[in-house]
Amino acid sequence: MTSRTASTSVRLTPLLAERWSPRAFDAALVTSDVVAALLEAARWAPSANNYQPWRFLVGQTTTDGADATHKGIFDALAEFNQVWASAAPVLVAAITEVEHEDGSVREIAPYELGLAVSQLTVEATARGLFVHQMGGFDADQVSATFGVPPQYRTVVVLAIGRLGDPESLPAWAAERESAPRERKPLGEIAFTDTFGTPYAV
Ligand SMILES: Cc1cc2nc3c(=O)[nH]c(=O)nc-3n(C[C@H](O)[C@H](O)[C@H](O)COP(=O)(O)O)c2cc1C
Repeated sequence: MTSRTASTSVRLTPLLAERWSPRAFDAALVTSDVVAALLEAARWAPSANNYQPWRFLVGQTTTDGADATHKGIFDALAEFNQVWASAAPVLVAAITEVEHEDGSVREIAPYELGLAVSQLTVEATARGLFVHQMGGFDADQVSATFGVPPQYRTVVVLAIGRLGDPESLPAWAAERESAPRERKPLGEIAFTDTFGTPYAV
């Protein structure tokens, strides 16, 4: 249990309760076999008709520094994310196939990608790693940089690594590393009888 463990109304598996989204990442490298394990966790997510629309562009820092993929993904991040995400040794662009080969739009595809990212995150937590998802980036820039076909859309970028020292961050970001973690109460999100009538525990 850490100071950022979720204070849940019912006891949960530590894999869920101890996940959170840090901005301070340690420079310690994440080896390719560990990255492969995270991608494998994503690979085994469920999807409608087992369609598996998820694709991942993986950028890594090695002993030689950030590779071209890490640099390309980093360049597409919004500035408010660049200020902290530069330290993350792994950056992943999470992409999904929004248009099926018959031309139909698969509105469910971002949901399926989310399931895959969720599995990746649980596996990361089990390995002592942290994942911080980002919607603040330029998806068109990712497409142009990496030749992503038009039927695919980048939905989020993931910063992955070990927890770092908040002192390494600008003040506004350092404060958030220790701010209380909050969620809506269960009664506001779980209903019975009619929409809005809280499910009573
Ligand atoms: C789809 C998605 C997009 C997000 N975009 C950003 C982002 O651009 N920048 C950022 O700092 N955090 C981003 N976050 C992180 C959320 O702010 C964070 O998950 C939320 O505040 C809950 O905190 P926790 O993950 O520590 O429980 C994003 C999270 C998700 C799931």
